[in-house]
Amino acid sequence: MDDFHKTRRLPPYVFEQVNRLKAKARAAGADIIDMGMGNPDLPTPKHIVDKLVETVQNPRTHRYSASKGIPGLRKAQAGYYERRFGVKLNPDTQVVATLGSKEGFANMAQAITAPGDVVLVPNPSYPIHAFGFLMAGGSLRSIPATPGPELFEALERAVVHSIPKPIAIILCFPANPTASVADLDFYRDVVAFARKHEIYVLSDLAYSEIYFGDVPPPSILQVEGAEDIAVEFTSLSKTFSMPGWRMGFAVGNERLIAALARVKSYLDYGAFTPIQVAAATALNGSDDCIRETREIYKKRRDVLIDSFGRAGWDIPAPEASMFAWAPIPDQFKHLGSLEFSKLLIEKADVAVAPGIGFGEHGEGFVRIGLVENEQRIRQAARGIRKFFEDAGSNSKELSKSGA
Ligand SMILES: Cc1ncc(COP(=O)(O)O)c(C=O)c1O
Repeated sequence: MDDFHKTRRLPPYVFEQVNRLKAKARAAGADIIDMGMGNPDLPTPKHIVDKLVETVQNPRTHRYSASKGIPGLRKAQAGYYERRFGVKLNPDTQVVATLGSKEGFANMAQAITAPGDVVLVPNPSYPIHAFGFLMAGGSLRSIPATPGPELFEALERAVVHSIPKPIAIILCFPANPTASVADLDFYRDVVAFARKHEIYVLSDLAYSEIYFGDVPPPSILQVEGAEDIAVEFTSLSKTFSMPGWRMGFAVGNERLIAALARVKSYLDYGAFTPIQVAAATALNGSDDCIRETREIYKKRRDVLIDSFGRAGWDIPAPEASMFAWAPIPDQFKHLGSLEFSKLLIEKADVAVAPGIGFGEHGEGFVRIGLVENEQRIRQAARGIRKFFEDAGSNSKELSKSGA
């Protein structure tokens, strides 16, 4: 396996080590509270499921579908952008439906990357943001994952020092894994920078609807001129609790959208038509189910921050996304995020994602997903409190014995 050019660029998943330990603990009878993956646990709203069931009865929908998405679905996505962001998109030239946004992102990387092309990727990042480009033969240069001045300093340095000049900047706000958010002023500055230096921007807006304050996350395409250099990826996975359906979109710059559509036309025939029809129903429907989902995640966030805080773990409250980005408590910092995550499984029956799995700058943190219900989150907090107390008395014992 290690001998293949592509697989050599894909190191073993760090999360696999945690997953193995989790499976072992479960096999031994432990009730592990799993906040490790970003896998939404809520059911897809009924009207969307009903539409799928109705559509699948029609044998005409059983044929190959349209690789870039059926027209009604692309129109529905354009409608969403207009309603939600005030952004007008041409459904024929500026919208492609993808098999989840992850597939769209990976194939966009395939479409635009020549061997050795430099891409500016946040570190820590959602893994496909880095590995999509590595698989496509690109080279990565890390940029900060928070939208502050350091990010612009890193971008300025990159255009001076990268050889060849970078082809693209990857952005992801609300961010996985850090839950950082960006405002429209930030995107204005990015668009000005990218247009000046003729660099594309790929923005991942998977958490467009999962936010807890009064201001919804903006789209980079709201900035005038953004269409000249930017595409944006969105997903139905979190917005409508449809992760298994594999439905997402790329929208924006026509040249990039055409490139993605071309690659996809060689690779797939599009999602199963009933899924596309149901996805259009989701996007054209009322916002009520989105609001309910947002409220559920918000309550879970509040319970997590409160109960973990009382257990002795102070975690900044995320403003958006499905995650809390939690600094490892001081007494465990020396272990590193992987060992700390393993200990949480063994001693607290709680699974989280080690920060190091998202890149070297993710060390010192773990990512906690809001994918268990409030009662289970409280149960996790009890396990953690006990683990912290036991660890505290153990270290006192150790220091008493001079060890
Ligand atoms: C930032 C980000 N982008 C994309 C995805 C994948 O979404 P999809 O299910 O649409 O492929 C995720 C899923 O966790 C994510 O966190």
